[in-house]
Amino acid sequence: MKINVVGSGYVGTTLAACLADLGHEVTAVDIDEDVVNTIEHGRAPIHEPGLSDLVAEHTGENLTATTSYENVADADVTFLAIQTPSQEDGSIDISPLAAAAEMTGEALADVEDDHLIIVKSTITPPSIEEIRSTVADSAGDAADRVEVATNPEFLREGTAVEDFLQPEKVVFGTESEWATRRLEEVFQPLLADHDTHVVRTNPETATMIKYANNAFLASKISLVNDLGNICKEFGIDAYEVADAIGLDDRIGEQFLRSGVGWGGSCFPKDVAAIVAAAREAGYDPAMLAAGIEVNDRQPERMLALLDKHVDVEGERVAVLGLAFKPGTDDTRNSRAIPVIEGLQERGAEVVGYDPIATENMRDRFPEIEYADSAIAALEGAAGALVVTDWDEFTALDEKFDTMATPVVVDGRRIVERREGIDYDGLTW
Ligand code: UGA
Repeated sequence: MKINVVGSGYVGTTLAACLADLGHEVTAVDIDEDVVNTIEHGRAPIHEPGLSDLVAEHTGENLTATTSYENVADADVTFLAIQTPSQEDGSIDISPLAAAAEMTGEALADVEDDHLIIVKSTITPPSIEEIRSTVADSAGDAADRVEVATNPEFLREGTAVEDFLQPEKVVFGTESEWATRRLEEVFQPLLADHDTHVVRTNPETATMIKYANNAFLASKISLVNDLGNICKEFGIDAYEVADAIGLDDRIGEQFLRSGVGWGGSCFPKDVAAIVAAAREAGYDPAMLAAGIEVNDRQPERMLALLDKHVDVEGERVAVLGLAFKPGTDDTRNSRAIPVIEGLQERGAEVVGYDPIATENMRDRFPEIEYADSAIAALEGAAGALVVTDWDEFTALDEKFDTMATPVVVDGRRIVERREGIDYDGLTW
């Protein structure tokens, strides 16, 4: 099939490269010339394992990138994978997505065949109507040949390519049979090869499934953090408790790792967005709001533990891990941000270390020191806070001995408790 993917961010680039890998002829459309040039040179504009290889393999073959909407109408379907940034009240700003929908609609104004526009971006159910009317207005006479569908994405950063190519489920939100069939054609190679569940529903339900998925997982972590905080107060190891409750199939063993909480570009934004949309509709979701509150508290609890061991004013403190999780250089909403802010409030001299996310954090905190290795960050430090569960932190062992005072507060249960270091786990 001929497929356009509008937007070459995280989801868009993964989608474009993977669809090309499935054998489709894919055009990636983005207004940013640098991003387009990067793809045209066979590189991915974002860091994601395996993605650059796929882009390199298909660029010049069945993957092209352009800033122009000129040939949009030649394709069978157009995916919109445009960011929907958070606003102050947590609600999403769909104007960049609406702008892309409008340009797509205009490009389809003379189309003679049916065309499917598929929203990949995470948008709330009530905002779908706005995209529909934007498309209808801009497509003019062709409006009744263009349908807007939703097809939410469940991939995780760090394993995006794998998650895309081996999904547990795909969700098609359509209003007509032909739109469902077209989506089935797009994903046919995946549906044929794998034991993938296919959920066929309407566009609003499909996008609610996405929010419910993320809200549930984020709340699961907040619940295990709430319980973990209780464990800590009682001197109990929350991981022992979590391992045991995870044996109950109704609970499940995944996403029970308590600690400094959830960050990234999805959970914080999506939970806030669905809470804001619910409030706008007149319902105040108490559980989800509490999940956010617990998550917001975890970095402060970590700092309070540090305070118990050492007064960090004027002291060097190492922050190990800046990415929101291992395997990515993404620092968006990383728990390291409130941790660094808390240290700065205490007058500490912060030294950050991350194997790949340093440059992204430097944009946010240009004033702090960044070390080239965990070992360098620890040297002479009065305390170390472990914020990301990078594997390499398991092997630091005697490197903690180079600290001025070997106080280690672990937010991810990655460092082993041992003699000679003053070790405190957040929930154990
Ligand atoms: C999340 C979802 O897992 C994906 O299914 C979804 O597609 C994606 O959001 C999205 O909406 O685009 P992602 O943000 O990449 O994926 O990261 P996760 O692996 O889910 O981790 C999110 C955060 O939760 C991280 O900060 C991680 O450290 C934290 N976490 C995760 C815990 O604190 N404990 C756990 O047990 C698991």
